[in-house]
Amino acid sequence: MTTQTPARPQLIDLHPPSADMLRLVQDGLQREPRQLPAWFLYDNEGSRLFDQICQQPEYSLTRTEIALLESAAADMAHAIGSGVIVEFGAGSARKVGPLLKAMRPSAYVALDISADHLRQSTAALQAQHPGVPMLGICCDHSQLDVLPDHPLIRGRRRVGFFPGSSLGNFTRNEAIALLRRFRDLLDGGPLLLGLDQPKSRSRLEAAYNDAAGISAAFAHNLLQRLNKDLGANFNPDKFRYEAVWQEAESRVRMALISEANQTVSVAGEPWAFSAGQPLVTEYSVKYSVEMARELAKDAGWRWCQRWHDPADDLSLHWLEAAD
Ligand code: AVJ
Repeated sequence: MTTQTPARPQLIDLHPPSADMLRLVQDGLQREPRQLPAWFLYDNEGSRLFDQICQQPEYSLTRTEIALLESAAADMAHAIGSGVIVEFGAGSARKVGPLLKAMRPSAYVALDISADHLRQSTAALQAQHPGVPMLGICCDHSQLDVLPDHPLIRGRRRVGFFPGSSLGNFTRNEAIALLRRFRDLLDGGPLLLGLDQPKSRSRLEAAYNDAAGISAAFAHNLLQRLNKDLGANFNPDKFRYEAVWQEAESRVRMALISEANQTVSVAGEPWAFSAGQPLVTEYSVKYSVEMARELAKDAGWRWCQRWHDPADDLSLHWLEAAD
């Protein structure tokens, strides 16, 4: 019997600068309405709660997208072709499996802000796909203009992957800037972009305010995080969680509503909240096919095709760099 040494994932750590959380929170509190950066939701406890959200019956996005990838990966590979798969914000990298099988890429490259997540997720993925060389790049992709030069990337066609409707957290201008950045980083290669679509108010509001109260706990955890990390003194009991479908903006607005007139201190600075005043924790923009096509065009991409689930709840859009 021949024993093959399993490939070991490699890691390039570009040491992304740690964010100035206090400044970002202060900036957000000066906006109207007040808003906190959505990525603050994902400390250890927040990431655990988000995984639980994905298992709630009302929140089908993750399950539906995984099922779509499983059923359509072969067709996607046939249409899009292969190369090196580059996943942006890979996190726990639980979605790329079907593409690795169907596309048989020459390598898998995962970008993420957390070196720990990258080590864990590429190690787990490597065990399931021993034949695909893997590389983690720890970076904040807004700091990158090109991917680092590396033998696994050099001279290869790049196929971008950005699933999960993560783009929904961004404003239109931010989303365009991000898609332009991906275009540069992919150097002419295509992008497979997962976006959730608008649906009925009742379904959307239930998806973001599940009966088990996990979505509410996820938002409230943000206040605990600010208390812990920034020496704030929010009383989570004095903020009520709310998720509202804002149809005109095609987005769900998630917010904590102050239940009383109260003053909260953040790093020694007082912030007065009036009863009923919202503190936005995140937006989740839902892209119709028309909106997705327009966004792609405005960001320098040519829309080619999409794959969707049987109910047409969400899409994986195939984009090619426009010349
Ligand atoms: C990770 C941004 C795609 O908007 O559906 C889910 C985040 N927040 N429930 C989404 C989220 C509350 C999620 N994204």
